[in-house]
Amino acid sequence: MSVEIIRDVTGIRARATELKKNNKTVCLVPTMGGLHAGHLSLIAKAREVADHVVVSIFVNPKQFNNPDDLKTYPSDEEDDVKSIEKEGADVVFIPSVEEMYPQEFATDVKVTAGIDILCDAHRPGHFGGVATVVTKLFLQVGADYACFGEKDYQQLFIIERLVDDLNIPIKIIPAPTVREKDGLAMSSRNARLKKADRKLAPKLHKTMQKIKEDIHNGVDIETACAANQQKLESTGDFKVEYLEVRCGKKMVLMKELGSECRLFAAAWLGGVRLIDNIKL
Ligand code: PAJ
Repeated sequence: MSVEIIRDVTGIRARATELKKNNKTVCLVPTMGGLHAGHLSLIAKAREVADHVVVSIFVNPKQFNNPDDLKTYPSDEEDDVKSIEKEGADVVFIPSVEEMYPQEFATDVKVTAGIDILCDAHRPGHFGGVATVVTKLFLQVGADYACFGEKDYQQLFIIERLVDDLNIPIKIIPAPTVREKDGLAMSSRNARLKKADRKLAPKLHKTMQKIKEDIHNGVDIETACAANQQKLESTGDFKVEYLEVRCGKKMVLMKELGSECRLFAAAWLGGVRLIDNIKL
């Protein structure tokens, strides 16, 4: 059977209610399209946790703080639907911008935890846009579960907070980062990398692994980050936005290793912003 495409809120709500009959469960996988193996791993995980899977594709204008980034966001509906179908999802929800944000739309979800740091410090307003659209998707679909990637760790933290704070009855399922063979974290924006930059891109992850190694060999966090950042930037290809060790659920900036620490990075390469994080 081919995957069903639904484009309106009334339709997705009715279909999800039907899927949930007889105590069956539904898992939502929110995406912005431009699907790669990282997205597909979330669909596979969703199939493990629930009886039915709904994937949404919506390039959410509210979370783009750069109009060019929005205009050139890579997305091919036909290809995406094909790969969603192959992965065994039941429904693809593809609302239009007008369906999600009609002219009179006037409500936003304001995030006050997990901001001012990492990506939020460089993309102000981004997570408010994410929180608004994710809240809408959760309420529209009424799913029991939703899968999110650890690749966007700060986003995952903010969504877990949001679900608790707004008492949304949905369980968030995290999934590990899927990488290319050379270590580059998969991302829809990687498609924008020029051929030569694509070859350089794995240097970010390699640098992060070297920092991890240095820290575990006793180099202090600040020195390890600064020295390796300098090396990464020395050829002039990369411009680092942040390279930081943060620990615990609240992502507290650390000078010494605590428990649940991760190294977070964002860097520009040839006009493309790469983000990544690894467990220390
Ligand atoms: P998007 O970038 O399309 O990502 C959709 C989901 O795929 C997110 O949960 C993201 O963390 C996950 N993902 C992306 N790359 C991954 C990788 N390499 N490995 C594992 N998972 C990966 O994130 C968004 O869209 C949007 O902000 C959204 C949540 C859909 C709200 O608009």
